Amino acid sequence: MSELLFVNACVRGERSRTLSLARHFLSAYTQKHPEVTITERNLITERLEPQYPEVLAHRDELWNAGKLDDPSFDAAWQFAKADKIFIAAPFWDLSYPAILKIYLERISVTNITFGYDADGNSVGLSRADKLLLITTRGGNFSLPETEWMESGARHLKALCAMYGIPDFQLLCAEGLDDIRNDKAAILARAMQEAETLAARF
Ligand SMILES: Cc1cc2nc3c(=O)[nH]c(=O)nc-3n(C[C@H](O)[C@H](O)[C@H](O)COP(=O)(O)O)c2cc1C
Repeated sequence: MSELLFVNACVRGERSRTLSLARHFLSAYTQKHPEVTITERNLITERLEPQYPEVLAHRDELWNAGKLDDPSFDAAWQFAKADKIFIAAPFWDLSYPAILKIYLERISVTNITFGYDADGNSVGLSRADKLLLITTRGGNFSLPETEWMESGARHLKALCAMYGIPDFQLLCAEGLDDIRNDKAAILARAMQEAETLAARF
């Protein structure tokens, strides 16, 4: 049985356009891949603690003692073992909400999601072959003059390289807060793209 890990960072919950798009993807995905188990990690209800000094000190203590089976590493093991990963997060301040960064810090554990070989080279240890980010943006950050500012998808793609996940994919509906745009048309197009993507993800 293969597992898709769904990381939900849609802070606005039921009002979130990103979550609507994510649910559309998941429903199409379930139809196309009924054999895959979908496990949701809801970062809004979970409220992981940021790595304040004492949190980091505790983690270092456990890691140095080789206690990688401690429950505080469960999120990292879950990520490392998932067959496919799907993150839904709105575009905030040119990247994504802080709750997702807190999660990424929590799962980035040496010898669980990534590590180093005998020569000191970084090696990815995560099993997933694909990671998909679904996001929605108020402005348009795919234009030649704005794409350099986009730091959310770019960061996740780089992390995939570190974790050893070869295929990073992005589904993005953007320009949704620009009064010149037809929001309904942009979202409808993205919903269709989500269906196409679900078939081959
Ligand atoms: C805290 C916050 C920060 C945002 N920052 C940006 C931004 O930097 N650039 C942008 O284009 N839109 C920004 N937006 C707009 C959102 O990206 C846009 O409305 C998105 O569709 C919201 O997704 P949601 O409906 O899933 O919450 C921001 C919205 C919020 C609430």
